[in-house]
Amino acid sequence: MAETRVPRVRRFLVCEPRHFAVQYAINPWMNPDTRVDVDLAHEQWTALIGAYRAHGHTVDHLEPVVGLPDMVFAANSAVVVGGRVFGSLFHAPERRPESSHYDLWFKTAGYDVYRPGSVVEGEGDLVWTGRYLLAGTGFRTTREAHREAQEFFGHPVISLTLVDPYFYHLDTALFVLDDENVCYYPEAFSSGSREVLGRLYPDAVLATRDDAMAWGLNSVSDGHRVFIAPQAEVLASRLADQGYEPVPVDLSEFHKAGGGIKCCTQEIR
Ligand code: ARG
Repeated sequence: MAETRVPRVRRFLVCEPRHFAVQYAINPWMNPDTRVDVDLAHEQWTALIGAYRAHGHTVDHLEPVVGLPDMVFAANSAVVVGGRVFGSLFHAPERRPESSHYDLWFKTAGYDVYRPGSVVEGEGDLVWTGRYLLAGTGFRTTREAHREAQEFFGHPVISLTLVDPYFYHLDTALFVLDDENVCYYPEAFSSGSREVLGRLYPDAVLATRDDAMAWGLNSVSDGHRVFIAPQAEVLASRLADQGYEPVPVDLSEFHKAGGGIKCCTQEIR
């Protein structure tokens, strides 16, 4: 019989997709000729927030800014562990102005914000496991930022190299299930990084390419429920077999910008 999983209440920071659009292409999912259904996007995002609240999680909002269509992807703007806020420095010039708006939100909420000196895209690439940070590099966040994050948090940072441009952020290829385990798509990583993940997580739940391409790894787990793209069917059943409860939330309009559930969700710890 599958184990009983215990959820932990989370605090999330999100940004309404009021100005969401695909206006430039900074990852292989984006095509500026794609039409985004703005109303549907808004509905899908509202359903995500509703699902978080229905399961007891707290959701804080930050005001969106005109001209910053990717600002909805809150995960990219900071990493917060133990009340320490490590800010962002975006790779793409189009996204750089987002950082100061997020910094201001944190400062207003009473936090100090660390300004990094090298490119780093928040929880997109720095993933807190409960004991250390797994850190992606290869497309966006630099190794120098991994070093900075380790110095800032005083927690070990484990660098992992991403090799497939469709999985350009670590959170597109891996998510944390709970304090013990993770779920990931092995082929998104260099062979050495794959070996590292295999040693750290011998019992990890692995995803197929189809499920990874369906945004199944851009999920949010509270330790019991996994908020997951409904298209990632095989993965959802693998998770259910392990005692997790998949909560399907469809963010298909956001996939057009190269984002999903986790991208829209920053966790404040
Ligand atoms: N269009 C955004 C970009 O390419 C999408 C960000 C997705 N966020 C994430 N955490 N993976 O930067």
